[in-house]
Amino acid sequence: MLFSPGLNTQKNLSKIEIRHLREKELPALEWEGEYIHFRPMFERAYRRVETHEAVIWVAALQDTLIGQVFVQLRSGRNELVDGHTRAYLYAIRVREAYRNFGLGSRLMYVTENDLIWRGYRYSTLNVARDNLSGLRFYERHGYKIVGQDDGRWSYTDHLGQTHLVHEPAYRMEKELKLGR
Ligand SMILES: CC(C)(COP(=O)(O)OP(=O)(O)OC[C@H]1O[C@@H](n2cnc3c(N)ncnc32)[C@H](O)[C@@H]1OP(=O)(O)O)[C@@H](O)C(=O)NCCC(=O)NCCS
Repeated sequence: MLFSPGLNTQKNLSKIEIRHLREKELPALEWEGEYIHFRPMFERAYRRVETHEAVIWVAALQDTLIGQVFVQLRSGRNELVDGHTRAYLYAIRVREAYRNFGLGSRLMYVTENDLIWRGYRYSTLNVARDNLSGLRFYERHGYKIVGQDDGRWSYTDHLGQTHLVHEPAYRMEKELKLGR
């Protein structure tokens, strides 16, 4: 099924709710199959939410998820996320039909303010070097390039197959302050 944003995207924007993902909505993160290969990763991320190691924010328009952002609060990589000072943002996505209306910015605002209230001082992220619009988006939100990342990672898909990814990236960081 193709996702249809409805006749009046602009009008729909006022009905969007930004909130935590609910467990029963895990399949909705796959959108219409576009991210089905990340199913095991989504499930693992949700288990980390339950142990307070991660947060998943979504933008919901009635029953449809149109935006998502994952935050790691703890991990084994202290340079990215250390459990109290530094948190790691990844996979911020807005459905194509809803881009360029400020939704990505709203997701960032909610995510960063939540981190501030949790006591975090920095947020870090990686963005693929060839993702120029993503890079511009983060720079506009105050992120600065602080290094490079080889960008080698792997994931196991919903069929149990392992995929190796090589996506050279910039490491970006922002000091979090109330009111930005
Ligand atoms: C990056 C991404 C999340 C941004 O989401 P978005 O909802 O389009 O974000 P915004 O609308 O807040 O900002 C996007 C642009 O629209 C502009 N904009 C914001 N509100 C606007 C409005 N009301 N009217 C017109 N333009 C607007 C912003 O100035 C911004 O311009 P920029 O690209 O020059 O920075 C989205 O493009 C996406 O999902 N991309 C694919 C996944 C990805 O690359 N993620 C990042 C790396 S993981």
